[in-house]
Amino acid sequence: MKLVVLTGAGISAESGVSTFRDPDGVWMKMDPMKLATPEAFAADPALVHGFYNARRAQLREVEPNAAHRALAQLERKLGNDFMLVTQNVDDLHERGGSRDVVHMHGQLQQAWCRSCDTRISWDEDLSTGTECPNCGSAGRLRPDIVWFGEMPYRMDEILGALDTCDMFVAIGTSGAVYPAAGFVEIAANAGAETLELNLQPSEGTRLFDDFRHGPATGIVPAFVDEILAR
Ligand code: OAD
Ligand code: ZN
Repeated sequence: MKLVVLTGAGISAESGVSTFRDPDGVWMKMDPMKLATPEAFAADPALVHGFYNARRAQLREVEPNAAHRALAQLERKLGNDFMLVTQNVDDLHERGGSRDVVHMHGQLQQAWCRSCDTRISWDEDLSTGTECPNCGSAGRLRPDIVWFGEMPYRMDEILGALDTCDMFVAIGTSGAVYPAAGFVEIAANAGAETLELNLQPSEGTRLFDDFRHGPATGIVPAFVDEILAR
């Protein structure tokens, strides 16, 4: 059985990472158009660096949870028949044991140099004066995050997997942001069974064949146990 799993902020919520659109979510308190667009970065790079620096630093305070670990177990069992796609920019899937994670929205712990087009692992703060360790340019590094208006990464691979999978599962995502919100329909049109695992019904629940609602640390390990028992 080929399985594609898409995760969103909800899988990291119980680890202490805020989601975006829940009542205390990041975009309920801050304006994404001032922080998460290329135009915002051009207008006020220090503000945007500050926002992502705080989020990067927060990763040191959090740990993966049972839902991240359960998906790592599934990867070990299914091997190449499993693809984990995440919209999350944290590293909790990796720290939960997953080896191959498709970070379609980029990663907090990576910087991208717009001068030499290199991606560099980055655990520290970035500033408007930070020098690129590869080419030496100052102030040309940006967080390697896919902002609104930019194309998510590895879309060809993802669409290929959606076209050939037997099952598609969306975990902890509101279904508000495209193209990820459209994956369920692509998989369904290709004949896959579709399942939503989310705290509550999302904007896209009606697009899924089946759903289970509850906290990820409960419903994800239960789902993985079922698949492993098949
Ligand atoms: P959202 O904040 O939009 O949605 C999070 C979803 O997780 C909601 O449907 C919640 O009900 C659900 N949820 C909350 N706590 C949960 C829990 N403990 N267990 C299970 N589900 C829970 O986050 P995303 O859908 O990931 O983009 O947002 C998509 C993109 O919008 C993000 O990748 C980000 C943002 O702008 C970038 O950073 C580029
Ligand atoms: Zn460079």
